[in-house]
Order: sequence, then C-alpha cells, then structure tokens
Amino acid sequence: MAGIINWNELWKMLRLSSPWRRTLDEPAGSFWDRRAKRFNESMMQNRERAEKQIAKIALNPEYTVLDVGAGTGRLAIPIAKQVKSVTAIDPSRGMLACLQENMEKEGVENITCINKRWEDIELGADIEPHDVVIASHSLAMLDMQEALAKMNASAKKCVYIFTFAGRWMDGGLWEKIHGETRPSWSDYIYLCNILHDMSIYANVEIWDSEYEQRYKSLDEAVTKMKEMYDLTSEKERFLREHLSKILVEDDGTLCLKRKSKSAMIWWKKNAHE
Ligand SMILES: C[S@@+](CC[C@H](N)C(=O)[O-])C[C@H]1O[C@@H](n2cnc3c(N)ncnc32)[C@H](O)[C@@H]1O
Repeated sequence: MAGIINWNELWKMLRLSSPWRRTLDEPAGSFWDRRAKRFNESMMQNRERAEKQIAKIALNPEYTVLDVGAGTGRLAIPIAKQVKSVTAIDPSRGMLACLQENMEKEGVENITCINKRWEDIELGADIEPHDVVIASHSLAMLDMQEALAKMNASAKKCVYIFTFAGRWMDGGLWEKIHGETRPSWSDYIYLCNILHDMSIYANVEIWDSEYEQRYKSLDEAVTKMKEMYDLTSEKERFLREHLSKILVEDDGTLCLKRKSKSAMIWWKKNAHE
C-alpha cells in the first residue's frame, strides 16, 4: 500500500525524465546489444568486484539461482560453479551471446538463458520458482513494483538486489555531460521504499566500491566512453576535456578510477508474514 509518497510513481517519473529513458523507448535489448562487447571486455577485467558481490549471497550446491538481467554472466558464471543450476534472463541477444562465449571459455554448462525482458516473463510458464533470485545493476523496468513483486514470487528462499547508493559509479560524469541535476533513479533508496510499500522490509548493506578502467590513450578512452554514453560530437568535446583532467598516467596506461557506494538490498522469502 502506498503511503504519503507513492514511491513507485516517483520511480516512474525519474526513470522517464532521465536521459536513460532511451533504454525504454528503443526495442528491448538494443541498447545493451550495442554495448555488449565493450561491457564484456571491461567487466570481465573486474573479477574482484564480482567475487565481492557473490561472497554476500548465501549459496548452496543444491540451489537453483535466477539471475534477472544477467548480462554477460559476470555473476551468473561464477555462481553456476557453486550451485546446481542458474537461469539467466536478459532481453539483449548481444549480452547473452557474450554470456554463452564466457560459459564455453570457463567450461560452465549449467546455465539456461532466456532472451526476454523480465516484464515479459511469466512465472509458471517461462520459469518455475528458484531458491535464490538475484538482480545486479539490471533493475531498469518502468513498473518497479510489478518487477519486484515478480522477483519475490519467483524466490523460494532469498532475493538479492545490487545497485548503487547515491550517484552511480561514473562519479557524476553522466550528469556533468548532460547537465542533469535530478537525483539518480538507480539509487537504492527508491527500491527500499517501494518494497516497504509492499510490506517487504528488506535488509540493506552499503560499501565503498572502486572501479578501475585502463586505456592505451586519450583517444581510446574518448572512443569507448562516447560509445558507452551514445554522445554527439558536441558532447564529445566536453568528454575529451573532462577525461584529460581525470585520467591518471600509471604504468604506461591512462587509468580512470571511479569511486561509488554499492548497495545490496536483500530479504528472506516470507520473513514478514
Ligand atoms: C549493467 S548490465 C548488468 C549485467 C549483470 N547483471 C552484471 O551485474 O554484470 C544491465 C543488464 O540488464 C539487462 N536489462 C535491462 N532491462 C531489462 C529488463 N527489462 N529485464 C531484464 N533485463 C534487463 C540489460 O540487457 C543488461 O544486460
């Protein structure tokens, strides 16, 4: 039940008025299709981050795990090595193609991929309940309450959501480029409040994260970031100027260090009944 503030409506408003709205306007998956290779390249370099996340999830060799918005399998693959099976859901064919390549490289065979948006998944038809449901930096749905209710219904034991607290990990770069001053819609606080309105009183853990990206040159950094952020040439000038100020020379490379606060929201199924 919504209180004085309707958090789900507030979420929708922020989501629709953010420059990331384009991910909702484009055909499902196409935004991440264009970024899949780059994302895979950079995220697979940051295994430590994935290990830190996975260490927080209670896993068991008998468990089945559902990964909502699994992407390239950054979490799904190491998790699959510890559990009975993983179901990876993602609307991006490009991200799932990388996941399948990564599975082959790592000799993992117990992941089933479903190429759909979470909104289009029907519990009981597409999937059965899993012991553990996770979603890491993938909750981009417009109706968050509906998405969270389906995650709760799909879990037999626990749900874990990973996102950011405050601004996300680009250290405000996106906001600087676009002159965006609104609060970041990916902030964990909206999810907690939406859950609270659903009578799910979730646990929250927040920690400092550091993310490091290395480039051979300023040109390479600009090209990669321009692609990631889908920037026009006018904004590219701004990006170049900004990157030239923040990239640090280290060991023959240009290093971009970004700090953020990571958040994990988690709850045990039926803990509040
Ligand atoms: C930033 S990536 C994160 C991937 C992975 N969970 C990780 O932590 O590395 C976001 C992923 O969420 C997926 N995604 C976006 N909207 C989605 C939706 N409506 N349903 C399911 N997945 C979605 C994207 O396709 C993309 O693969």
